Amino acid sequence: MTNELIIKDLHVQVENKLILKGLSLRIRQGEIHAIMGPNGSGKSTLAYTLMGHPRYQVLKGDILYKGQSLLGLAPDERARMGLFLAFQYPVAIPGLSLANFLRAAVDAVKGDQQGNNGKPSIPVTEFRRRLNEKMALLQMDNSFAQRYLNEGFSGGEKKRAEILQMAMLEPEIVILDETDSGLDIDALRVVAQGVNSLVGPEMGVLVITHYQRILNYIKPQFVHILAHGQIVASGGPELALQLEEEGYDRYTKNANGG
Ligand SMILES: Nc1ncnc2c1ncn2[C@@H]1O[C@H](COP(=O)(O)OP(=O)(O)OP(=O)(O)O)[C@@H](O)[C@H]1O
Ligand SMILES: [Mg+2]
Repeated sequence: MTNELIIKDLHVQVENKLILKGLSLRIRQGEIHAIMGPNGSGKSTLAYTLMGHPRYQVLKGDILYKGQSLLGLAPDERARMGLFLAFQYPVAIPGLSLANFLRAAVDAVKGDQQGNNGKPSIPVTEFRRRLNEKMALLQMDNSFAQRYLNEGFSGGEKKRAEILQMAMLEPEIVILDETDSGLDIDALRVVAQGVNSLVGPEMGVLVITHYQRILNYIKPQFVHILAHGQIVASGGPELALQLEEEGYDRYTKNANGG
């Protein structure tokens, strides 16, 4: 059975402002989709809504995953169903090492919630083995896991930490918001290679970006343009290249006055 994320006629309001106005999209496991769109078009709004951020109010429409509506589910329940959101602006937590953060995250998302009396459900040795394996896959130095979460991390290191988190959680649907922002070309390549090494028939990916650049490395089969709160065009990778040439003008004029 393929698990499909189905976004149907989604209307989302933030602080009394209607941002998404009937957005529909389907993502199957094994597919890579990219959403592009101008600043303020609602890309991050979509990402936060998918993860269940309480500030983003769904007024109409539905989000279905594995045949179930996600709308009543809290973010952690969505994560346990297999969704993962890489944030545009990751937070720093002084005093918490990356390794301990990942341990807690893995337990929260993959652990047995019933009857483990608060004990971590993955043995330490097994956790370490998997952590080392994933860090090697992402070409990360072992010492990196002992640093405090995001504290003093460079932009590229934050992104690597995020991709490492993704590798450890083994999600089925990944939403990457603006993962190219602030990355130099080498870091971008590493992040993209990391994502690519994890993508497979088991994982669906939604890459949210306004530059075509990252799509040279993470190759989407489907590209969608978000404007005026809706998907206004969909196509293959050629659509991203066309945007790079022509900009968003064609899609942003002639409606709502902007
Ligand atoms: N918490 C909030 N409070 C008020 N307005 C918000 C909030 N979150 C989003 N908005 C508004 O919603 C609109 C869409 O914002 P969003 O962050 O989704 O755009 P975006 O497409 O991700 O833009 P960017 O390309 O700059 O990241 C903007 O007008 C923004 O000001
Ligand atoms: Mg954004």
